[in-house]
Amino acid sequence: MDISGKSYKAFLKRQEALKKQYSEKQAEKQHSKGKLTAQERINLLFDPGTFEEIDTFVTPADQPVEFGKVERTYGDGVIVGYGKVNGRLIFAYAQDFTIMGGSLGAVHSQKIAKIQEMALKMGSPIIGMMDSGGARIQEGVASLSGYASIFQNIIHSSGIIPQISVIMGPAAGGAVYSPALTDFVFMVNHTSYMFVTGPNVVREVLNEEVTFDELGGAKVHACKSGVAHMIYDDEENTIMALKKFLTYLPSNNVENPPFVPEDNSTPDINDKLRDIVPDDPNKPYDVKDVINLIVDRNSFFETAELYAPNIVTGLARIKGKTIGIVANQPKVLAGVLDIDSSTKGARFIRFCDAFNIPIITLEDVPGFLPGVDQEHAGIIRNGAKLLFAYSEATVPRITVILRKAYGGAFIVMNCKKLGGDFSFAWPTAEIAVMGPDGAVAILYRKELAESSNPAELKKELVKKYRDKIANPFIADESGYIDEVIDPAVTRKKIISALQALSNKWVKVPSRKHGNMPL
Ligand code: HXC
Repeated sequence: MDISGKSYKAFLKRQEALKKQYSEKQAEKQHSKGKLTAQERINLLFDPGTFEEIDTFVTPADQPVEFGKVERTYGDGVIVGYGKVNGRLIFAYAQDFTIMGGSLGAVHSQKIAKIQEMALKMGSPIIGMMDSGGARIQEGVASLSGYASIFQNIIHSSGIIPQISVIMGPAAGGAVYSPALTDFVFMVNHTSYMFVTGPNVVREVLNEEVTFDELGGAKVHACKSGVAHMIYDDEENTIMALKKFLTYLPSNNVENPPFVPEDNSTPDINDKLRDIVPDDPNKPYDVKDVINLIVDRNSFFETAELYAPNIVTGLARIKGKTIGIVANQPKVLAGVLDIDSSTKGARFIRFCDAFNIPIITLEDVPGFLPGVDQEHAGIIRNGAKLLFAYSEATVPRITVILRKAYGGAFIVMNCKKLGGDFSFAWPTAEIAVMGPDGAVAILYRKELAESSNPAELKKELVKKYRDKIANPFIADESGYIDEVIDPAVTRKKIISALQALSNKWVKVPSRKHGNMPL
């Protein structure tokens, strides 16, 4: 090619114009808010030198704008492309707040839709890094339709490729539904926020004063709404955590998750597991101590840690292979199942099932949370989600009952008749229709009322109930569980079970889709 020719000069001119588009001032403005630029985020995410940008020179359509103005910049405020993260192909887009507030116009949305479609076609995860004022006001209905095509693509790709959103600035209005539809949402503390209607509207409509952070900051979404699964204090740590998280995921639903060899330092038999559950059945303990002794050392990556902490969910590895953990947490609300923990567990289970990740359930649950609040808010409807999610999951499903498995909770938490593949129980397990106090009160109401020493009688009856009913041996002898095991061999048992299940194949009757309670 003649590099002194006209066409090459035109090529260089465009490259120059692109460089000039980004000023130091714009970057400084982002940095002064504790944020990185879109390019810096891309650079942090991808392995050096591997990112290939596409549609770099795309510009907004040159049509008259009746209200405000549309800046005719190269790229239209979003970087899209693909490259390698930890050596694996990943697609991504990063909105650029320095260009019209990262707002989404027709061309901006077409770029995102294009990269989404490529990610689906190539069977690779897609990451959306969002920093946007939402639909571009000047472009009106074209912006709204742009969002619709993005939503449609996310829904089409759901369960086929992992889709992860990282909120690194505003996500306002209907724009919040794009992250909400994806599998996991990462947020950055203090610099990102998500809401359907902002503080101004809240003030006008409800006369309430609230800050951006109080209304839709990372902590709010991580602790209260459950929209955000992982939050970190700055963008660097957020992206580093995201890169680690990706190592657990397969590229798509027909691949298995990557194998990451363990360092062989996790003993398959560990006596420490015998000392975690206290003798007193009412004493709490931290189920994460159990998790960390069962999975490959330091491999547990907890998801939604701050939301509904009475159930623990997360990805980990056993013998180098990704597994999902669902565990009741006796340390919080005695590990009871309520609305939030049911929906948290259900969503996580469905993710694991979609992406070939075996599910290990650690059970210690006194039952569903009683009360007017829970009943009226729909514990029936929401508890049914957990039931549905477990029951429809076809990945390997292994349960270890550590202590309490009472009532509906025994069934819901992956019992064998619900399709669980292996069910083990520790000798400390209590498996029965209800806890001893409730059972004694119902079956011996008359005797207790007539007793001269009801407290002593109750104590005796509770002991008898524990000996005769609320133990794991009846379930073991009747085959409702597979085996009562020494806690020390739990990891070894799970390894054998996972090996036995490695070719598990379940044929599901053909249908359009089930009708999960929502
Ligand atoms: C066009 C926008 C914009 C938008 C921001 N800008 N949002 N331009 N459309 N939606 C522009 C601003 O005019 C400004 O341009 C630049 O981006 C930076 O914005 P600032 O307001 O100066 O920044 P800041 O003070 O940090 O405030 C950020 C913000 C605020 C809180 C996001 O800009 C804001 O409230 N924007 C509107 C949010 C919103 O309501 N969006 C529509 C939601 S409805 P200049 O030229 O001055 O630099 C929606 C429907 C989707 O999204 C439907 C899907 C179903």
